[in-house]
Amino acid sequence: MSWLILSLLFVATTISYLDGTKGLGIALAAGQEAPKAERGEQIQNASCTTCHDRRPIDRQALDEAGWMKVMASEIEKGAKVEKDDVPVLVAYLVKNHGPLPDGPGKEIVLNICTRCHDLQRVRRQRSSAEGWAEILDTMLNEGAPLSAQDFPVVLRYLARNFRPE
Ligand code: HEC
Ligand code: HEC
Repeated sequence: MSWLILSLLFVATTISYLDGTKGLGIALAAGQEAPKAERGEQIQNASCTTCHDRRPIDRQALDEAGWMKVMASEIEKGAKVEKDDVPVLVAYLVKNHGPLPDGPGKEIVLNICTRCHDLQRVRRQRSSAEGWAEILDTMLNEGAPLSAQDFPVVLRYLARNFRPE
């Protein structure tokens, strides 16, 4: 009987030891530069997708101050984020959902172009107006719900802000 208790004790201490080292590993990783985004994504998936999916996040394009504000209001709503994790998550959000140039078309882009892929796809692209018109035609063929009324507004917005350098 006592060997059973002993071995259970052993298992329990081993688990808590391993838990401790794992926590330490994550803490160390968060202090390094490269894996920061990875960690930010993990925090997002753990803390920000319990009440809603990623959609409300995907539709934002904010700077650091803007994301800090969102963080404060989400935490007030009940989101659980460790204090030390807040800056890591905010850095991740700024990197992936940073500000977009203002202007007509911005809201449509945030609303429509985030439905099938993230905005990084759009941000990376540099094209002439003709190039963007072609891309938008392709997106329509893919099923993008871009109305005939919104098409020229988005086209102008993209051609102005994402043209070849
Ligand atoms: C306790 C539930 C809960 C958690 C957890 C949560 N949210 Fe929310 N969030 C809400 C509610 C409720 C709304 C408002 C209704 C909606 O838009 O679905 C909202 C809306 C939002 C919006 C849109 C805000 C706006 O002004 O339109 C963003 C952005 C957002 N959440 C980001 C986050 C982020 C980032 C996290 C993780 C830190 C998070 N949320 C975690 C409940 C939550
Ligand atoms: C109905 C789904 C859908 C919507 C909505 C959508 N796209 Fe796409 N988009 C796609 C698909 C599918 C691809 C191709 C992905 C691939 O080839 O890997 C793509 C790829 C792209 C690319 C990369 C093209 C390339 O040649 O690499 C850009 C830029 C793009 N989309 C811009 C937009 C813009 C701007 C909007 C909003 C007007 C938008 N998308 C909305 C489905 C969509």
